[in-house]
Amino acid sequence: MKKLNIGILGPGTVGGGAYEILTKNHDLIQKRTGVSLQVVKILTRRSRPDLPADLLTDDPDDILNNPDVDVVVETIGGIQPAASFMLQAMNHGKHVVTANKAAVAAEYRELTKTAAQNNVKFLFEASVGGGIPVLTSIEGALSGNNFLEVMGIVNGTTNYILTKMTEEGSDYSEVLKDAQEKGFAEADPTSDVEGIDAANKLCILMALLFDKYVAPSEIPTTGISKITGADIASAASEGCKIKLIAHAALKNGQVVCSVAPERIPDSHPLAGVSNEFNAVYITGDMVGEVMLYGKGAGALPTGSAIVGDIISIAKEL
Ligand SMILES: NC(=O)c1ccc[n+]([C@@H]2O[C@H](COP(=O)([O-])OP(=O)(O)OC[C@H]3O[C@@H](n4cnc5c(N)ncnc54)[C@H](OP(=O)(O)O)[C@@H]3O)[C@@H](O)[C@H]2O)c1
Repeated sequence: MKKLNIGILGPGTVGGGAYEILTKNHDLIQKRTGVSLQVVKILTRRSRPDLPADLLTDDPDDILNNPDVDVVVETIGGIQPAASFMLQAMNHGKHVVTANKAAVAAEYRELTKTAAQNNVKFLFEASVGGGIPVLTSIEGALSGNNFLEVMGIVNGTTNYILTKMTEEGSDYSEVLKDAQEKGFAEADPTSDVEGIDAANKLCILMALLFDKYVAPSEIPTTGISKITGADIASAASEGCKIKLIAHAALKNGQVVCSVAPERIPDSHPLAGVSNEFNAVYITGDMVGEVMLYGKGAGALPTGSAIVGDIISIAKEL
């Protein structure tokens, strides 16, 4: 039986979800791929009695420089040290799978170049749309298209807040507080509500759809923190919903992009994407319009995308 050994950097929400799937669905995945996926090391700085003690290490080198590790899963988050860890893993001949949109967007060129130089896979399906197979679809089933436009609801926190403001007529600050209490928003919600997280995801989408890298800081970005109940009511009077849209389109051969609250007509499929759900609406010159919809976050949906990337590496063994 072929084996693929995995090291996980950061067994938090997503890394823990990936570990759970790899453990619970081990036999199913082995049957489908003919490969046994084994987690052999997990990097954590804390005591984790819920995980097997013999797998745990607090030394990144035990994974990054371990000849027994074939695939490194990076689920630490943030740009550093995550990006350096990924580069180090690639330079040691390891495939890398990540959910980290901030690091992928910031260091996209360096990461893809280093993966190519080392002839290893660098996969990041989980970084956009959590469990929704967006990037795999762009690079697979849709890859015979010239892409014309993408509109994404790619941040669950802001979509949850805008949905509640629309449905309950509540104010932004009131809904944000409720979202924080329910775990849909971080204690510091800046990255989500100011559109930074969506800009990271749009950067990754544009790189794959239009082969164009635009740094997240170069994407004109407006968040939702200034949206009022009056804005929502005014949109409703025109038969529209306000959604935070990560938007890029080809106009006269140039890619035009933005992250901003937009009025989406109720008849548009994106208007029906509510609460914490995500959707990416892509227009290709051959396929027309396609919408991919699902859970954009959470341990198991995001873990599912990580495991899908690992399986695609296993299938190439
Ligand atoms: N949460 C989601 O639903 C979701 C969805 C899509 C994408 N993502 C992305 O997935 C990544 C992980 O997010 P998460 O929600 O799983 O985060 P999380 O729950 O905070 O887990 C982060 C893990 O990384 C470890 N870690 C943090 N800084 C570290 C450092 N400097 N050195 C070593 N380990 C470190 C943590 O430490 P210890 O174990 O040592 O405490 C923890 O195990 C992020 O890039 C995020 O944007 C998350």
